[in-house]
Amino acid sequence: MTELSGSHFLVVGATGVLGAELSRRLAALGARLTLSGKSAAKLQALADELGNAVEGTVAADLGKAGSPTEIAAAVYGKELNGLVFAAGVVAFGPAVAVEDDTLDELMLVNLLGYMRLMREVGPQLVRDSVVVQVSAVVAESPTAGMAAYSVTKAGLSAYGKALTLELRRQGVRVIDVRPPHTETGLAARPIAGDAPRLPQGKDPGAVADRIVQAIVDGEKDLPSSSFN
Ligand SMILES: NC(=O)c1ccc[n+]([C@@H]2O[C@H](COP(=O)([O-])OP(=O)(O)OC[C@H]3O[C@@H](n4cnc5c(N)ncnc54)[C@H](OP(=O)(O)O)[C@@H]3O)[C@@H](O)[C@H]2O)c1
Repeated sequence: MTELSGSHFLVVGATGVLGAELSRRLAALGARLTLSGKSAAKLQALADELGNAVEGTVAADLGKAGSPTEIAAAVYGKELNGLVFAAGVVAFGPAVAVEDDTLDELMLVNLLGYMRLMREVGPQLVRDSVVVQVSAVVAESPTAGMAAYSVTKAGLSAYGKALTLELRRQGVRVIDVRPPHTETGLAARPIAGDAPRLPQGKDPGAVADRIVQAIVDGEKDLPSSSFN
């Protein structure tokens, strides 16, 4: 059982639907939060909502190479009991037609920013801390029309597996979370292309509940099947 009361979590992508739901639940369980997102206005609104639970905020665009350093500066010198990475963008369209700007943004926001951030804040993760990286079901089942997005999520999951092995001695648990399609509206705001017709997705609150349960219960992996 992981005690969240009095812990300190950095939540990246806190301004998103899943990130905000996770932040609310962590705050309700007594965690102190440093929140990061792209939109300064959404970040401020979430910080106002969560009040005293918020230790700091940092607006940073992961599409820019220096942003992981900006995020790390917000927690510099502080111990971390948790890191949640819930930032991400999606793009649709044929694999052979994807444009360079789309590829670059997908890779930077979904994968490279996180890898650079881990390099900076990894040493601040204390014993019995937890890293939650929100990958996706497409990491398990790469999907037609979503090749580049699938690659970023599969890369994230692969990175998480290696990270698990490397950080075990430090006492850090890495949970790779691979939710199925969830009704956050993400598919309606792609950076390129148009979403295909999708079946009804999961409820974001239920997905966040399941992730927090995994944090508290000491689970080590959260495949798509665990959201059924
Ligand atoms: N919804 C689904 O069906 C589903 C399924 C599986 C996995 N996921 C994953 O879950 C995570 C959260 O997605 P969501 O569904 O909650 O979507 P969302 O509401 O659109 O949240 C996306 C988050 O990513 C942040 N973000 C986007 N571009 C960014 C950038 N350039 N720099 C920094 N932050 C950026 C957004 O910041 P701002 O809001 O401040 O712009 C927001 O916090 C993503 O990694 C997504 O791939 C989603």
